[in-house]
Amino acid sequence: MPDARNPWWRDAVVYQVYPRSFQDSDGDGEGDLAGVARRLDHVASLGVDAVWLSPIYPSPMADGGYDVSDYEDVDPRFGTLADFDAFLARAHARGMRVLMDVVPCHTSIEHRWFREHPDRYVWSDRDGPQNNWIGTFGGPAWSKDPRSGRWYLHSFYPEQPDLDWRNPEVRQAMPRALGFWVDRGVDGFRVDAIDRLMKDPELRDDPPATGPPALPLHPEHATLEHVHSRNAPDVGVALAALRAGAGDGTLLVGEVYLPSAGLGPYLEHLDVAFAFELFHSQWNVAAVRAAIEAALDPAGPAGRVAWVLSNHDFPRLPDRVGHGNERAAALLALTLPGTVFVYQGDEIGMADGPGGDPPRDRWGRDAFRHPMRWDDAEPHGGFTTGDPWLPSTPAEGGAVATQEANPASLLHLYRDLIALRRSFAPGFELLDAPEGVLAFRRGEHVVVLNLGPGEAPAPPAKEVVRHTHGATGKAPDRLGRGEGFVSKG
Ligand code: NOJ
Repeated sequence: MPDARNPWWRDAVVYQVYPRSFQDSDGDGEGDLAGVARRLDHVASLGVDAVWLSPIYPSPMADGGYDVSDYEDVDPRFGTLADFDAFLARAHARGMRVLMDVVPCHTSIEHRWFREHPDRYVWSDRDGPQNNWIGTFGGPAWSKDPRSGRWYLHSFYPEQPDLDWRNPEVRQAMPRALGFWVDRGVDGFRVDAIDRLMKDPELRDDPPATGPPALPLHPEHATLEHVHSRNAPDVGVALAALRAGAGDGTLLVGEVYLPSAGLGPYLEHLDVAFAFELFHSQWNVAAVRAAIEAALDPAGPAGRVAWVLSNHDFPRLPDRVGHGNERAAALLALTLPGTVFVYQGDEIGMADGPGGDPPRDRWGRDAFRHPMRWDDAEPHGGFTTGDPWLPSTPAEGGAVATQEANPASLLHLYRDLIALRRSFAPGFELLDAPEGVLAFRRGEHVVVLNLGPGEAPAPPAKEVVRHTHGATGKAPDRLGRGEGFVSKG
């Protein structure tokens, strides 16, 4: 019987697979579900609890699959529904749960609803944009539909028209899609761009921004204060419908792109929401402490956040926290209390690649989506026998096969930390520590890491059970840049 007070996801580690870049099984240069299934032993060997698949639905791929043209099927480039079922069964057989990505804010412009049910979308009542809203990737959030001559809203690319969640038909149709996957055995969903779901019913102009945005945005998008174009106070109506479609036992993780203090209305219906303040935090003690405190605030989300330091939308970990700090980043994410997400390739320290030529993503995110490196001795790192859709770029510490054979590798650190977190007793407390050093207590364990630019004194600690770089046993007096440890007491 599932225990509602202690659900499986409470301290779970979820591994994000970006299917197009994980493993190609048929030589067409793009990853697919049979490839993911083949590599599940690697994922399971990390000790993770679940796999989150970025979208695999039929899609014209204007936004890497976040432009869905059918919510109840698999894109042929990724395989078939039978491949999905086989993948799901393999994951379950290895004790891992599976999360899908659901994209409820918009469809692809090629979804049949756009022609057959135009009322399910948001239209301007004039011959031009209804207001001054700007799309997330820049440019006006309104485009003219060449067929009908009317203007429609798109919070993202023009190929992604926004659904009108004030229309009860939408609140019935989309949740059915969640049920479709739950019936197949899916355990949860990462819910895309959920703060965009509901807008001002009168579609009023956004006022000009009065300061820098709370979280990083496209510079043009950041010129407005998004008080009307997102995060409507009655978002709960839509979220309740999504929850009804998913059912009570299904994990719903919100991609709510707001500071932690704004997550309350979302957490009334979702289980957890990503902690984007920590994701985007500067790599220093004051900023990281503040982000953690905001996410654990009893008057705010009270710890109902999912930690995440990396995904397919932003520069890869070494490029954001600084090369040499990726072990400390792993130590931080994997020892905080609560659900944590790991993006494929983080466990081998993959950094940004050169991107596609010509670019595949117009907003420049190719660099964060290069194929997984399995074996440096194989063509394209073992990702494909064909021509990879994005070039395969080596990881600094070597591919999975190299790191597997080296107990001092980053890969082994991930595995050990994931195992170690299982032994943490409840409880979390930030501790005082020397300048540049972050320290916190997890039950009987203490986590210490140097976030500063150089060497720092280590606070006194008892037995070190895992060090990011060095030996266990006696606690060190000093920590080099990017070093840290977990001690017992
Ligand atoms: C967030 C997704 O992670 C991103 O890749 C996508 O472009 C937008 N949502 C729009 O769906």
